Amino acid sequence: MADSPRHPFLQGLSKHRGAPPTVVVIFGASGDLTARKLIPAVYNLGFDNLLPADFFFVGFGRKIISDDEFRALAAAAVKEHSRRELKEDVWSRIAAHTSYVAGGYDEKAAFDRLAQHIAAIEQTIGREVQTLFYISTPPSVFAPILLNLGASGLAGKYAGQPHHAKVIIEKPFGRDLGSALELNATLRRVFQEEQVYRIDHYLGKETVQDLLVQRFSNAIFEPLWNRNFIDSVQITVAEDVGVGTRGGYYEQSGCLRDIIQNHTMQLLALTAMEPPVANEAEAIRDEKVKVLKAIQPINPGPGGDVARAQYAAGMIGGKTVPGYLQEADIAPSSATETYAAIRLSINNWRWQGVPFYLRSGKRMARRVTEIAINFKRAPGTLFAESDRFNLAANTLSFQIQPDEGLSLILNTKIPGLETRTQPVKMSFRYSTTFGSNTPEAYERLVLDAMIGDGTLFIRGDEAEASWKLCTPVLDAWAAAGRAGMESYVAGSWGPAGGDALLARNHHVWRQP
Ligand SMILES: NC(=O)c1ccc[n+]([C@@H]2O[C@H](COP(=O)([O-])OP(=O)(O)OC[C@H]3O[C@@H](n4cnc5c(N)ncnc54)[C@H](OP(=O)(O)O)[C@@H]3O)[C@@H](O)[C@H]2O)c1
Repeated sequence: MADSPRHPFLQGLSKHRGAPPTVVVIFGASGDLTARKLIPAVYNLGFDNLLPADFFFVGFGRKIISDDEFRALAAAAVKEHSRRELKEDVWSRIAAHTSYVAGGYDEKAAFDRLAQHIAAIEQTIGREVQTLFYISTPPSVFAPILLNLGASGLAGKYAGQPHHAKVIIEKPFGRDLGSALELNATLRRVFQEEQVYRIDHYLGKETVQDLLVQRFSNAIFEPLWNRNFIDSVQITVAEDVGVGTRGGYYEQSGCLRDIIQNHTMQLLALTAMEPPVANEAEAIRDEKVKVLKAIQPINPGPGGDVARAQYAAGMIGGKTVPGYLQEADIAPSSATETYAAIRLSINNWRWQGVPFYLRSGKRMARRVTEIAINFKRAPGTLFAESDRFNLAANTLSFQIQPDEGLSLILNTKIPGLETRTQPVKMSFRYSTTFGSNTPEAYERLVLDAMIGDGTLFIRGDEAEASWKLCTPVLDAWAAAGRAGMESYVAGSWGPAGGDALLARNHHVWRQP
């Protein structure tokens, strides 16, 4: 059976990844993320026998509904969104320990009720349990929730012990450096850093974790992983969809805040960091912070390091799609970018002189996330480029999504009676080797937080280092309004300004 514990994804797992008795409390119980990702993640952990025997699931929200109504909502979420079908025996085990607490996020009395609810669970089972709070609400209520967790004593419960309370906090973590500093300060009033798990769900993706394994377990890469052999690095996070029904949210965010500051910067940090001294959370996060701090300030001015644009109407799949300014809930004079590209310089021993190009956009030619390492060309003494010798620079690309895998471009001889060459692609695909039913990022992240492993979460100083780089760009764009905003045809690879960023170094974007 594909999903039995013998499946390669699960081999040996339960021995090493056992979570202690836990109550998971989700704030924002009626939310979109809760239904699409969090409840299915809990269900699939249950399916794989990765939940502790004493596992309890509590929804917290403003709506007054009964435990039964919440269980019905949760079951419906599993049916609609889980990667596996709802199996009655798995679900009934979780449902029996699922309950709901109603209350306002700024209502201290509601958090006291929640504390009593958790104490009653402990009394029933006759043992102490750790509480994992998952804050899945809009950021406007992050602070009241945190402060009430402090005031009710829930945050400090079992302080200093391994089963201390833990909190997962959703993105966005601030909207600039100032608000990120403020949120970190609020968190620190209530929680110790080791209790805090800041989500960037990209870190839960298999291929992102594989980046560490590829880099640090294959001896062939490390000698080449530096300025002597690498010419440039390109990181692309492209979506083919537009803003859809989320125009109102997107107007307040934009591409730099939504994708570049968090997901793309995380991919860069994992690609460029020094080898950590140990395979554990603090060692890895120390190296990520160090490399983020070594990035030079970004010049947001004309002729500088950035490009921004909005998609214009275009044809996708034979259908005309509207431009950003024609989408629902978008101001006709909006200055929100749907595409951003940045050229970064890392001023350290390993990377000085190697440009790192980051780009992301909506309504681009394809949905793809990849990291491409472009190597320097071999000396052209034997095979000078000509009609006979079609040669490419070697490129190692980590395909994060879709078609998760790894590929390497090599030059090879075309079979025949004379020597002619052509670049070929050598590929490894996850789905071919391991099958396709991989765990969702949120499964890994919820399990890791329950276990107390922060490796795949962002530390406070990491979030601040990344905002420190991006905030001057956001400020410059806010001051410029629409001046300098380009457009690109929906379904293309972005604006001319994005290409110009690379052309200055005689580079071109890959077309993944
Ligand atoms: N949806 C996604 O795909 C996605 C992806 C990545 C990150 N996130 C992040 O995850 C969090 C939740 O996202 P979501 O899409 O699930 O949000 P959502 O559906 O808009 O809101 C989640 C829940 O928060 C409560 N809520 C909403 N507006 C509120 C307000 N103004 N004041 C107080 N409570 C409010 C509601 O719960 P009750 O009515 O039950 O109280 C709501 O169901 C956000 O921080 C978001 O940025 C979401």
